Amino acid sequence: MKAYELQSTSGLDGLQLVDKPMPVAGPGEVLVRIKAATLNYRDLLILKGGYGSRQKSPVIPLSDGAGVVEALGPGVMGFAVGDRVIGGFFETWQGGPPSQEKFASALGGMADGVLCEYRVFRQDNLTRTPDHLTDEEAASLPCAGVTAWSAVMNFSPAKPGDVVLTQGTGGVSLFALQFAKLAGARVIATSSSDEKIERLKALGADDTINYRTTPKWGMKVRELTNDRGVDLVVEVGGAGTLNESIRATRIGGTMALIGVLAGPPQGEVRLPLIVMQQQNIQGVTVGSSEDLKAMAKAIGLHGMKPVIDQIFPFERAKDAFVRLETGQHFGKVAISFP
Ligand SMILES: NC(=O)c1ccc[n+]([C@@H]2O[C@H](COP(=O)([O-])OP(=O)(O)OC[C@H]3O[C@@H](n4cnc5c(N)ncnc54)[C@H](OP(=O)(O)O)[C@@H]3O)[C@@H](O)[C@H]2O)c1
Repeated sequence: MKAYELQSTSGLDGLQLVDKPMPVAGPGEVLVRIKAATLNYRDLLILKGGYGSRQKSPVIPLSDGAGVVEALGPGVMGFAVGDRVIGGFFETWQGGPPSQEKFASALGGMADGVLCEYRVFRQDNLTRTPDHLTDEEAASLPCAGVTAWSAVMNFSPAKPGDVVLTQGTGGVSLFALQFAKLAGARVIATSSSDEKIERLKALGADDTINYRTTPKWGMKVRELTNDRGVDLVVEVGGAGTLNESIRATRIGGTMALIGVLAGPPQGEVRLPLIVMQQQNIQGVTVGSSEDLKAMAKAIGLHGMKPVIDQIFPFERAKDAFVRLETGQHFGKVAISFP
């Protein structure tokens, strides 16, 4: 089978198209023909060795794939050849609390990923694809979708009438917007682009802020909420946006810490304000296969469509990484397999 292998962490030059032996499903395992994959910001970091000892070498990149069951290993129940399925982000985190061992099984990092024609999955790490989704849409769920689901629905679940703040128009943030709307919340969404802001509104954002032209957007959020602040911030900027998020969050509200897009902080992080406002900071590390199943069920029930930016053919996989790196995308960048 054809596979891309990251043979050195020198960026795209280290990514080589190679022939590998066809994998075989063992007991309790399922061979999946991958039909589509999507990229996450993490995959750009991995290209450059950004995960250090938490990425193996060589590695088949990308954590997020969807496809069709090709063959069943001995003892597999509940799947048939031809079923459409989605692989989970962590090979061994089926459910329950996370652990070091579960985290060490992340696809495209410590375990081989999905940028290959066939991959074997443990049967308990597969989720059925909701009928209304294309393979590319299904392949957007394991990392970006589950991360947003954990932030918006699990730790401090958004309720009807709550106010949720999302940052930018990447994969995690658009899923967070969609889930917050499903939950009946009001969404304040930011972006650096007025053109993308129009698309955020079309997706259901109730209020929008251009964080480039309004760098003190935390104050603007307070204005928009009668000085109360939001219940939940889906924080994908990290240290560089945290001060504005602290300002934007209500007393007793939560910041779900997810990403690192904004780089280091401008000045000191205002930790005393977190104490004085009794705010919660919740780290999020994707989620389990059970979370993926629960989310897929909700997406199926509501006919929710993930936002796909562009689809690149397998042989142009490198162009997909380039597209993601430009930051011009809106939603998920996908790769479609022959
Ligand atoms: N902890 C976890 O489990 C987990 C899981 C998934 C992702 N992540 C992390 O979460 C972050 C987002 O991931 P992703 O895959 O959704 O990324 P992505 O799709 O590459 O998102 C890029 C978008 O983020 C926005 N952005 C960039 N800098 C920003 C800033 N300073 N403030 C607000 N928005 C900014 C931009 O939107 P505009 O163009 O609209 O400005 C940009 O287009 C990354 O840091 C990633 O590593 C963590």
